[in-house]
Amino acid sequence: MAKFNIATTRNQFEAIAQLANIIWREHYIPIIGLEQVDYMVKNFQSAEAMYSQYLDGYAYFMIIHDNQFVGYLSIKKEEESLFLSKIYVSKDYRGKKIGKSAMNFCEEKALEMHCKSITLGVNRFNVKSIAAYQAMGFKITGEMITDIGHGFIMDDYKMEKLIF
Ligand SMILES: CC(C)(COP(=O)(O)OP(=O)(O)OC[C@H]1O[C@@H](n2cnc3c(N)ncnc32)[C@H](O)[C@@H]1OP(=O)(O)O)[C@@H](O)C(=O)NCCC(=O)NCCS
Repeated sequence: MAKFNIATTRNQFEAIAQLANIIWREHYIPIIGLEQVDYMVKNFQSAEAMYSQYLDGYAYFMIIHDNQFVGYLSIKKEEESLFLSKIYVSKDYRGKKIGKSAMNFCEEKALEMHCKSITLGVNRFNVKSIAAYQAMGFKITGEMITDIGHGFIMDDYKMEKLIF
């Protein structure tokens, strides 16, 4: 059974950033290449970047399984939806229903915040995660190309799960 610890301190964001660096290199280099991974880790997954997102209203949670810190997620309410900005589980712990437990946690949060759905963006070529999201009840609702600077783009599907 996973637990979800809210992150509020500099040390916690440092710990999340260390895990993010491992997960991002292992998972995303084959999908988007090393240069874009370096750029995105620095700009979106570093302790500084995540702390500034936290100050901007994104709640961060550390996923703890069997007393191990195995992943993290980030959510923010946007109108009537809960935007799932990040959800990552370490490679060795995938496929053990930890992501599903994290998604159930997000659904509880979404209902508490009077949201009608959970939305997220996922790289179109991140096929395993798309399949996992579909298994958890999400549907593709659109496509979104975002210019993130320095010649890089995010080429995403938008996905949504209705919860109410
Ligand atoms: C996507 C992710 C969070 C899912 O977490 P997880 O712990 O591996 O998933 P779970 O074990 O809880 O599985 C949830 C459901 O998805 C299905 N699933 C998981 N991985 C799958 C895969 N590779 N292909 C098909 N279905 C899959 C499971 O069978 C399960 O469905 P079920 O309950 O009907 O059996 C995790 O795999 C991950 O962190 N991936 C790498 C990083 C990433 O891409 N994050 C998403 C960024 S947008």
